[in-house]
Amino acid sequence: MELVAHNVTLAYEDVNVVSGLNCVIPPRQITTFIGPNGSGKSTLLRGLARLMKPRAGVVLLDGKEIHRSGTGQVARRLSMLPQRPTAPDGLLVRELVALGRFPYQGFLGALTAEDDRQIDLALRTAGVEALADRPLGELSGGQRQLAWIAMALAQNTPAILLDEPTTFLDLAHQLEVLELLEKLNRDAERTIVMVLHDVNQAARFSHHMVALSRGTIVASGKPEDVITADLMRQVFDIEAEIMHCAATDSPLCVPLSRSPE
Ligand SMILES: Nc1ncnc2c1ncn2[C@@H]1O[C@H](COP(=O)(O)OP(=O)(O)OP(=O)(O)O)[C@@H](O)[C@H]1O
Ligand SMILES: [Mg+2]
Repeated sequence: MELVAHNVTLAYEDVNVVSGLNCVIPPRQITTFIGPNGSGKSTLLRGLARLMKPRAGVVLLDGKEIHRSGTGQVARRLSMLPQRPTAPDGLLVRELVALGRFPYQGFLGALTAEDDRQIDLALRTAGVEALADRPLGELSGGQRQLAWIAMALAQNTPAILLDEPTTFLDLAHQLEVLELLEKLNRDAERTIVMVLHDVNQAARFSHHMVALSRGTIVASGKPEDVITADLMRQVFDIEAEIMHCAATDSPLCVPLSRSPE
């Protein structure tokens, strides 16, 4: 699975949000985008997932221009959990997760035994088996988030893109999701690309980090190369002390104050 953005410009109406961006997503690794609100993280993720067509440049999936590939073809290679996914409140969790099987369905769209197996596996993996017959509208924010993650898993793709998968989750459930993604990456060699606001979790769980500011990449590389006091000042306008966490063997950022104007 290779995903590359080459000179990509993404725009809404006349406003360029991402301009001439180049980025290689390392295959079979965990990549995390960080950056302040409005810096273009979701926009870039949408561009990489073929949900938004670049105004200029190309996104290549396995060497092929993603916008010249069919929906089903892309959906068998790459699944995407958006930042604010929506579905009818009455939809049952199992029905939502079943939607993840759409790229595999034939003409009549009936679920096969393999589809059912993948749906059960996804429900179990995301820990929402017990919620399978509940309507989405009755779930807590965190339960709903896990149901959506199960849908992305049911799609069973080599690459999984997730926009802030830990929002709405308590600390234990945040770790549950990140450990799950880590396991999918390690055991099943999935390529994971996500957006996180918690730079410490990003540093701990990522092989590769990309810091965005105003639609451009300001730094990318290993967590210890990206999480620096200079970068925190440049990208987030904060003064921070960077330490090393021995328990997780990753950089730890302690925000101290906003940078002076
Ligand atoms: N549908 C849209 N129409 C017009 N402008 C948009 C749209 N979506 C996003 N934008 C603008 O594009 C810029 C980047 O937005 P984006 O959602 O990519 O940021 P983000 O880094 O994901 O932010 P956050 O951390 O708040 O989710 C922002 O200025 C935003 O206002
Ligand atoms: Mg966003």
